Amino acid sequence: MSDLSKMTDWDKLQGMLKASASESQRFTIDEAKLVAHLRSRVKGQDEIIDDVARLIRLSWMKDKRTRPVCNLLFLGPTGTGKTELAKAICEHLFGDEQALLRFDCSELASPEMGKTRLTGSSSGYVGSEQGGQLTRPMFANPKRVVLFDEIEKAHPVIFDLLLQVMGEGRLTEQGSGKTADFTQAVIIMTSNSLADSMGKAVQGLTDYPRIMNAIKTLLAESGTFRPEILGRVDKVYLFKPLSGMQVAEISLLKISKLGQEYGVETHFVAPELIIQALEANIRVSKFGIRELERILFDRYASYFVEARAANAKSVSFEVADDGTIVCKRDPAP
Ligand SMILES: Nc1ncnc2c1ncn2[C@@H]1O[C@H](COP(=O)(O)OP(=O)(O)OP(=O)(O)O)[C@@H](O)[C@H]1O
Ligand SMILES: [Mg+2]
Repeated sequence: MSDLSKMTDWDKLQGMLKASASESQRFTIDEAKLVAHLRSRVKGQDEIIDDVARLIRLSWMKDKRTRPVCNLLFLGPTGTGKTELAKAICEHLFGDEQALLRFDCSELASPEMGKTRLTGSSSGYVGSEQGGQLTRPMFANPKRVVLFDEIEKAHPVIFDLLLQVMGEGRLTEQGSGKTADFTQAVIIMTSNSLADSMGKAVQGLTDYPRIMNAIKTLLAESGTFRPEILGRVDKVYLFKPLSGMQVAEISLLKISKLGQEYGVETHFVAPELIIQALEANIRVSKFGIRELERILFDRYASYFVEARAANAKSVSFEVADDGTIVCKRDPAP
């Protein structure tokens, strides 16, 4: 009888082990696929991507966390892919870029307004039932990337809230008293302040501790960040300025993405056409690639519209002798 009961216990135990094994399957993540996805969207930042992917996988595989999946700080010049990488991480981890929750910290510069915006009004005050713009979406779906842009502009009161989010993975809404959970979220802060001096400070340095030291010293001396923020951050990444080739690659990516929005694939784009777009971009915006999307839209959208109207599934863009675009449509198979 006792043997039988032992057998039953044994079976039960096996069952539990199996259940917990299948449970942990839910937490697996394919690092190579994550890297491939991030690299397909973000160009010229491969070292950062490889390291971010490793960090996310190691933390993601934990069954339980008492802090966010990771707290990351992206530094570097404007238009180098900081926000783009945050979006790409969100798309891959949570299946949808829309799960990204973004806050512009320049709008969180006033202590009361900023706090109310994130965590709602105290109960009894107007609008308290609406809750906070950070807490409410987290109640609805805690699996998110939460992005705080221009973090250095946030008021110290907001920093205190962020420290709570990053340190304990929790934040209480003022009106309802309910607590939002951040242990399934990735927290990303970005800043492009001091980008030039930071680039110089780390020039020639290759190992991470020395790079971090140089960055920390610079941030501390300039008084940009509270040191506690850096203490809570798992990793700081310094994005590199993009080279001409990388911007060319991004242009191709953007033309192809534009086509896909019309249901048309792009087979080929003549290099001369890419150079033309880059030159036009430099003419309108000396600093970076923000205008590129609009320039490419102006130049290419109508060809995609016409191609779709003609039932073409794909197109190639070649260049005429006078430099104009020649769009060749491939008929539907
Ligand atoms: N490394 C990159 N790879 C692919 N696209 C990029 C890259 N850098 C910038 N872009 C493109 O340029 C535009 C601006 O990039 P993004 O928003 O990521 O800049 P940022 O680094 O966040 O700049 P800021 O500090 O001004 O916020 C986006 O449309 C993005 O697609
Ligand atoms: Mg940005």
